[in-house]
Amino acid sequence: MITVIKGMRDLLPPESGWFAQLESEARAIFAQYGFAEIRTPILERTELFTRSVGEETDIVGKEMYSFADRDQTSLTLRPEATAAVVRAYVEHRLWDQPGLARLYYSGPMFRRERPQKGRYRQFFQIGAEVLGGDAPQIDYELLEMLARLLDRIGLAGWTLKLNSVGCAQDRERYQQALRAALEPVKGGMCADCQRRAETNPLRVLDCKHPEDQPIIATLPALQDYLDDGCRNHFEQLQKLLQAGKIEYQNEPRLVRGLDYYSRTAFEFQHRALGAQNALLGGGRYDQLAERLGAPKGTGAGIGFAIGLDRLVSVWRELTAPAPAQTDTGATTDAETRTGIYLAPLGEPALIPALELARQLRQTGAGKKRTDAMIAVVVGDAALAAKKHLQLASRAHYRWVVLLGEREIASRELTVKDLASGNQSAHVWEQVALHLGL
Ligand code: HAM
Repeated sequence: MITVIKGMRDLLPPESGWFAQLESEARAIFAQYGFAEIRTPILERTELFTRSVGEETDIVGKEMYSFADRDQTSLTLRPEATAAVVRAYVEHRLWDQPGLARLYYSGPMFRRERPQKGRYRQFFQIGAEVLGGDAPQIDYELLEMLARLLDRIGLAGWTLKLNSVGCAQDRERYQQALRAALEPVKGGMCADCQRRAETNPLRVLDCKHPEDQPIIATLPALQDYLDDGCRNHFEQLQKLLQAGKIEYQNEPRLVRGLDYYSRTAFEFQHRALGAQNALLGGGRYDQLAERLGAPKGTGAGIGFAIGLDRLVSVWRELTAPAPAQTDTGATTDAETRTGIYLAPLGEPALIPALELARQLRQTGAGKKRTDAMIAVVVGDAALAAKKHLQLASRAHYRWVVLLGEREIASRELTVKDLASGNQSAHVWEQVALHLGL
C-alpha cells in the first residue's frame, strides 16, 4: 500500500466540508471589507523566501521544500503566501493603481516541521494583505475584520496578542541591547539560541524550548526601544482598538518567526489548541515591497494568515452538536441525518427514479444558498427494498423514497423518515414538499 507523506493528510468528508464552510464565511466577511482574491503559484523562486522571510528563520533555515528545476533554478514550495503576494504586487505594478490593494488568498502551504497535533507539513491558510498604506486605521480594520469573523462563526474564547516590533533602526538598537544581555546567559541556552545570539538575536525570542523560557523572560523588551513614530503608531492603534471595543493583550515579547515584520505584530490564540495555540498570525511589513522592487513610499503593507487546519479543529470542538438523548438514554442521530435516497426496486423503476431525482434537485436548487442544498442520490436498481434501507441508513441519509412497480403505476410514493422511523405515502408531485424542498 502506498501511503500519504508523513505530516501531510487527506481531508475527507465531513472534515473537508468544515474547511469549505469556513472558507466561505471568511470570503463573505473579507468581501465586506473590500478585499478581492489573488491566486499565486504554489512554486516560487527560492530566493523570494530567503530575501523576505529571512535566512535565519526556522522556515528558511530548515523547513522549506526546495529543489533544483531541470534548468537548475532553485524552486521552493511556498511556506507562506505574503512574499508571493508582495512579489505579485510589485511585478504587476499594483502600487500604481489608485487606493490600497486589498487582496486575500486561500490555499496549501508547505513547511517541513516536526509533525504533531495542529502542525502539518502541508497545511492550509486563508490570509489577506493590505498594501500601499501605513496608517494605524488600516491595522485596526484588519483586526476588527478578524474579530468579526471569529465572532460570526461562534468561536468564543480567543485572545488577541499585540506588539510593535518597531522599525529597522529600533530593532538595530534593540539587537545590540539583546546581544549584550544574552552574552552572560547564552551558555545555558539551547544550541539554536546560542547560534542566534550571535547571528540574529531577535530570533532567540521565538525559541519554544521550555528550559530557555525563564532566561528569555529576563531579556529587555522591544517596546522600550521604539522611536517616536513607531510608538505613536502603536498608541494610535491601541486607541482605535479600545474605541472599537476589541479586546487585546499587549505582549511585549511577541516578535513572530519571520524577518519581514515592522511595527504592528499580532496573533490570535485559542486555549483549546494546546501547544500550537496560534490560530492566526500577522503584522506589518513596511519595507518588504521596496526590498522586492517597489518604488520608495509605495510598499507599506500589513496582513495575516489564518491556520485553517487549526481553526477547523477548534471550531469543530466548540460547535459540534451533541448527539440528542432519547428517553432510554440511547443517542439518536436525527440531527446528523441529511439527504434523500431514492430506491428504485427493479430495472423498470430506474428511469422514473432518475427523473424524480432530477426534479428534486431542480426544486432544491431553487433555494438561494448553495451551501444549504440537499443531496439526492439514486440507489442501485438491482437491490431489494431492505438492502436499500440498510445502505441509506448506514450512509446517514434522512429520507428514503421507495419506487416499486406498484408505486410508479399509482404515482403514489412511499417516503420513509429514517430519523423518526415514520413512513407515509405521497403523490409524486407532493414528494418535494413533504421532503422540505
Ligand atoms: P505564520 O505565523 O507563519 O504567519 O502562520 C500563520 C498561521 O498559519 C499560524 O498562526 C498557524 O495557525 C498556521 N500554521 C503555521 N504553520 C503551520 C503548520 N505547520 N501546520 C498547521 N498550521 C500552521 C505567516 O505565514 C505569515 N505569512 C502571516 C502574514 C500575512 N503576515 C503578514 N501577512
